[in-house]
Amino acid sequence: MSGALQTVHSVSEMRRVREAATATRRTIGFVPTMGYLHEGHLSLVDVARRHVDLVALSIYVNPAQFGAGEDLDAYPRDLERDLELAAGRGVDLAFVPSDGDVYPEPQTIWVEPPEDVGRRLCGERRPAHFRGVLTVVAKLFGMVQPDVAVFGRKDYQQAVLIRRMVRELDMPVRIELAPIVREAGGLAMSSRNAYLTAEQRPAALGLSGALRAVREAFERGERSAEVLRQRARGLMEEAGVRVDYAEVVEANDLSPVVEAQPASVCAVAGYVGTTRLIDNALLAGSSSLDDSGA
Ligand code: PAJ
Repeated sequence: MSGALQTVHSVSEMRRVREAATATRRTIGFVPTMGYLHEGHLSLVDVARRHVDLVALSIYVNPAQFGAGEDLDAYPRDLERDLELAAGRGVDLAFVPSDGDVYPEPQTIWVEPPEDVGRRLCGERRPAHFRGVLTVVAKLFGMVQPDVAVFGRKDYQQAVLIRRMVRELDMPVRIELAPIVREAGGLAMSSRNAYLTAEQRPAALGLSGALRAVREAFERGERSAEVLRQRARGLMEEAGVRVDYAEVVEANDLSPVVEAQPASVCAVAGYVGTTRLIDNALLAGSSSLDDSGA
């Protein structure tokens, strides 16, 4: 199987591939995505490759994680291009299930996010989002049965919740996290960046710009989380972002902090036009913001 990209559409075929890998003692690394692949996704493939024999990447736009009025129908899709990019990056297996494969019957069992981490930040604004994410990731883990799965720090709250789910539900998979990949100006790569017009791109830089300024203020000695979050908010507004939130939180449970620490995370979300963007950064230490050339 190694060498060429194998595309798998059904769960039963996925199981056969998993069984064959097990029989030949090959480990599987898994990168779940919603497609419209970019360098952020492909960097996760590189991380997976370091840990396993075979890399599987799934492409599935999961309806359960989109709220009413969100962008499920508009979500960008280009399977042909995705498969080319995946093959070019050495992915062994593309798993592309249909809605009928993933949800053959109405889902009645859900993985509910915890009240604390699950209800903060994006969880507060998108009430059913993380139950949709956790449930589909649990299902995909059941289908692929990976040894290792890789997630990006771009969706920091998602990564924290998935780690917790795996721990508390004793799922036999190791979770690896990968750094945020940014465009040259600092904008965190996202499939949703495809929605941005050329005129909106400068405003979109308001998120990473605010994070950089917050890190600089922290480095100069500012420790008030309130001052830091107001600074982030102000800079985003100045850039033309309609702020959804700008918070300084504890890295593990995402609770708001009063006195900022090096390991605190600044997490921001906002709208540029109708496009919702998110970004985050640790307050200190090496950061993808340092080498974004901005
Ligand atoms: P999606 O937004 O396609 O992202 C798939 C994975 O790529 C996630 O782990 C995400 O954090 C990572 N990623 C996206 N942009 C990145 C960037 N700029 N740098 C580093 N990593 C990046 O996240 C989802 O899909 C879905 O919720 C999913 C987990 C697939 C469940 O449906």
